[in-house]
Amino acid sequence: MEIMEGAEAKVYRERLLGIDAVVKDRVRKAYRNEELDREIREERTKKEARIMALASRGGAAVPMLLMVRGNAIVMTYIKGELLSSMLSSAHRRNLGDIFVQAGGLLAKLHSLGINHGDYTPANLLVDGSGVVWAIDFGLSDTGNSDEEFALDLLLMKRSVKKREYVQFLNQYVEKSGSSGSAVIKRLKEIEMRGRYQSRSLLTA
Ligand SMILES: Nc1ncnc2c1ncn2[C@@H]1O[C@H](COP(=O)(O)OP(=O)(O)O)[C@@H](O)[C@H]1O
Ligand SMILES: [Mg+2]
Repeated sequence: MEIMEGAEAKVYRERLLGIDAVVKDRVRKAYRNEELDREIREERTKKEARIMALASRGGAAVPMLLMVRGNAIVMTYIKGELLSSMLSSAHRRNLGDIFVQAGGLLAKLHSLGINHGDYTPANLLVDGSGVVWAIDFGLSDTGNSDEEFALDLLLMKRSVKKREYVQFLNQYVEKSGSSGSAVIKRLKEIEMRGRYQSRSLLTA
């Protein structure tokens, strides 16, 4: 059963040795040279799998990597709802605790040296017990730079309401200590740069 067809991959469910699994299969891009396409997909699949394994080994709430099969990642299925759909639902409840967890989870990923690359409510799953899981490590990296970490925060900031971002950020700061302060400092610099740039565009 297909869950979703994204830009890069087909995602579907499968039973694997009795485990409820999700297969994320990078599909061929017709416009790319066949050989090059195969290399790109293989490389991205390996990288995503490596980062997922690193994250779960470090104790972050991410699906467990079960295997890599060709250009497909097989991982445990998380039964839950995307935070993005919870946010858009009519009877929107108080999601304060969810944003607190999201902040703690990002601090955990950063402490493992992982920047997520697409940390938005569309890549967070909330399971039946209210636990928040991060998915989609397709744009992730392990570079350890404050700039990349700050961009994770900025993307969340731009994706949610102010109050939600504050709940998220407070927990991030609390859980990430002094390394988190350096990231916040960098975030402020990035925002200043952005403001400066748009002002200079206006006055140019
Ligand atoms: N481990 C998982 N458990 C449950 N659903 C998942 C899992 N991984 C992905 N999904 C579902 O598949 C969708 C697409 O997966 P994702 O990794 O975000 O790929 P894309 O790069 O296309 O956004 C997600 O939005 C989610 O609904
Ligand atoms: Mg996604």
